[in-house]
Amino acid sequence: MSEKLPFFDEEVLYEVIVSTVDDTKQPNAAPMGVRYSNGQLILQPYLTSTTYQNLLTNKEAVINVTTSPELFVKAALFQEEFNAEDFLTSLVSSAPFLKACAHSFIVVRVSSFSIDDLKARFLCEIVRVDLSEFRPRLYTRAFSSLIEILIHATRVLAFQRDKDKESEVSRLLELIDYHQKIIGRVTSKNSMYQILMRKINSKINQVRV
Ligand SMILES: Cc1cc2nc3c(=O)[nH]c(=O)nc-3n(C[C@H](O)[C@H](O)[C@H](O)COP(=O)(O)O)c2cc1C
Repeated sequence: MSEKLPFFDEEVLYEVIVSTVDDTKQPNAAPMGVRYSNGQLILQPYLTSTTYQNLLTNKEAVINVTTSPELFVKAALFQEEFNAEDFLTSLVSSAPFLKACAHSFIVVRVSSFSIDDLKARFLCEIVRVDLSEFRPRLYTRAFSSLIEILIHATRVLAFQRDKDKESEVSRLLELIDYHQKIIGRVTSKNSMYQILMRKINSKINQVRV
């Protein structure tokens, strides 16, 4: 399949939620960057991630296309809140998709992979596209800042026990603070964004003590 993907420009990194399964059929969903290039999708999971292990073992994944702030927060920092009912399987893949992204997903299969330092690079062929119910949201700086915060927060969690990474963690916490101030400026206290921020902060503070 090499027709143009709707919504995707070539060679741009987009943020999506990738769902996979392990060899016991346990589903997993994590935010990942994905790039569309020459009719294929490229995923670059860290070697330490479950997504990497599952792609290596099972070779199948679903790219869940969403702009839901809640879904990104859950998949990035609160994966334990997902349960079996949050996932559905299609006929074309063993990897499940998120029920919240029904008709807004792309099924892929790994065609080749390589390892580059700390990350793998999976070239994936597109097996099925259903973006018929993908609805982009109006642009808000709060969403961009939330995504930045989540990327930094997942690194803070990954580095939490690594003494050599203390200055990197301080730098990441400063960036989180910077983006949090933007969210404070463009939303109000009772907005979904600030409610999610309070949840993210309590998670970060828990692991920092
Ligand atoms: C928007 C966003 C994009 C991300 N992109 C990647 C990525 O491309 N590769 C990666 O390994 N981790 C990425 N991460 C971090 C992972 O989502 C995070 O480490 C997650 O805990 C991995 O989950 P897993 O171990 O279940 O696969 C991203 C996080 C966010 C919030």
